[in-house]
Amino acid sequence: MEIIIKENEQLASEAAAKVVARLVREKPNAVLGLATGSTPLMLYKELVRLHQEEGLDFSQVSTFNLDEYIGLSPDHEQSYRRFMNKNLFNHINIEMDNTHVPDGMTDDIPGACAAYELAILDEGGIDLQVLGIGSDGHVGFNEPTSSFASRTRIKTLTQQTVADNARFFCDDESKVPNHCITMGIGTIMDAKMNVMLAFGEGKAAAVAATIEGAVTSMIPASVLQHHPTAKIFIDEGAASTLTLSDYYRWVYCGKPEWQKDL
Ligand code: PGA
Repeated sequence: MEIIIKENEQLASEAAAKVVARLVREKPNAVLGLATGSTPLMLYKELVRLHQEEGLDFSQVSTFNLDEYIGLSPDHEQSYRRFMNKNLFNHINIEMDNTHVPDGMTDDIPGACAAYELAILDEGGIDLQVLGIGSDGHVGFNEPTSSFASRTRIKTLTQQTVADNARFFCDDESKVPNHCITMGIGTIMDAKMNVMLAFGEGKAAAVAATIEGAVTSMIPASVLQHHPTAKIFIDEGAASTLTLSDYYRWVYCGKPEWQKDL
């Protein structure tokens, strides 16, 4: 794991965007795994800026999103398809046909999940997966006790996640769907690179457990300790309870510039 601690969310997001941009420049038909929620918003803003001001070309890129709520249509205000269109896809030159978000309205959930896995394989697998982390340690919507071998499937959100996400649903927990389709932990671990972002003190405990705790399905993100190329971009708040934060800073400072966005 590589831990990159930046002064604030914006600087951490810009550093993560450099890694994404470098991949897209080196592999124009890169396959990106994408995330939703408040965490990746600044990353997407920076990718839009890189496209508009520096010509970062997404015309051959394809994308697969981690998850979607069951029962929300693509045009629902809180659907992740709508989130992606609004915050990224509508502002870059990506082919909409190359963007994939699980179908929360399917009447064949197992079939749609299997097809999603096959579609990822057909594209050659995910080159870089963007991840947030839940305050309960989830990645995608893989809640505590999710199998590390899991693939795309239906999951039930924890009450903590429902409470956390109520802020997107007029603070009304009863409006948050309880079920979702999510890539599995096995799916995420198959990505060639994982880039996790986390900001604020509210994520500090989950971040410390992920990076410095035991690998356990009680903290699903801790599985990233077993991933060969996992980069964790965090701000001071999310880093605030790490034991070895001085070491992570020292490692990053000692890296040559050219290596920082590899
Ligand atoms: P958030 O969610 O970015 O809205 O905090 C992260 C997550 O649940 O993975």
